[in-house]
Amino acid sequence: MIVLGLESSCDETAAALVEDGRRVLSDVVASQHEVHAPYGGVVPELASRAHVVNVIPVLRAALDGAGIGLDRVDGVAVTCGPGLIGALLVAVQAGKALAWARGLPLVGVHHLEGHLAAVYLDSDPPPMPHLALIVSGGHTSLVRVEDHGVVTELGRTRDDAAGEAFDKGAKLLGLGYPGGAVLDRVARDGDPRSFNFPRGMIARSTGDEFSFSGLKTALLHHVRAHGMPVGQALADVCASYQAAIVEVLVTKTRRAARREALGHVQVCGGVAANGALRAGLRAAGAEDSFVVHVPPPGRCTDNAAMIAAAGYHRLARGERAALDLNATATMPLPRAVARA
Ligand code: KG4
Ligand code: ZN
Repeated sequence: MIVLGLESSCDETAAALVEDGRRVLSDVVASQHEVHAPYGGVVPELASRAHVVNVIPVLRAALDGAGIGLDRVDGVAVTCGPGLIGALLVAVQAGKALAWARGLPLVGVHHLEGHLAAVYLDSDPPPMPHLALIVSGGHTSLVRVEDHGVVTELGRTRDDAAGEAFDKGAKLLGLGYPGGAVLDRVARDGDPRSFNFPRGMIARSTGDEFSFSGLKTALLHHVRAHGMPVGQALADVCASYQAAIVEVLVTKTRRAARREALGHVQVCGGVAANGALRAGLRAAGAEDSFVVHVPPPGRCTDNAAMIAAAGYHRLARGERAALDLNATATMPLPRAVARA
């Protein structure tokens, strides 16, 4: 079954064709980073407009890249939430129009269900159930993945997401927006033990919850006290700041894996592209005997191949969205089961 995935929840317009939820035939992403960079953050109205401009060219490029026509597509999967409402609507409308015009089955996909499905693309997938650390610009959660599209949330951030911590730190250090990847790069030349930034909620008593808002305040105080770092000092600050985020994520993930007795752990979302996090989790996995599954960096950040992969499992189960499918800005994780 060839599924067309469409994604426009934030500042990436993406289309992809994926066979049987596993084999990527094409994967096209048009980023709007340059549109939003001058404002230091995503401007929702500008995002919506750029999606409108990009959605058809991106769709065409996905079909061309796979070397197939729409007649070979068996179903359409579109991100229907959570995200920026005006942005989401673009892919939702495009998906509905295609489904209606071509008589194709349609499903709506939760954006994080998409991130969780990235690990199944062109790789050895983790077995069910497994533990997942979801770390993106908008979310930071530890979940048990029971089955495709069925998760139990164990804990989440109380304030900022890990990606937000990276972006706000990078912005404060003058590294531009979105700065997570830049901070990662600069940190490579720095010493992570140079400065001791706070490890928010690392105590065992805080369970699977996270907090990152104190960290950016600590960085602000650091810059006020020592001045804006440049050269080696900048690399050292970046490495130390990043180490604080990574240590918390790795510590909480390995504790949860042990407690839940899960031998396979996946990490997904934009921050999963982070070099130090990938290395830290692999080292923890080697010590604690759990297998770490992480998509290649380009599949950690927003893309539509992951949406097609998640949509495949819904379509294969016979699920169909009606043409009144709507975009939703806030949306709980799919079939999340609350645990006391
Ligand atoms: O999943 P994603 O593309 O969009 C959301 O669903 O939010 O995640 C974007 C986030 C941004 O905060 C970005 O700075 C961060 O992922 N990110 C990184 C890296 N690459 C992207 N953070 C740290 N290191 C990276 N290499
Ligand atoms: Zn995302």
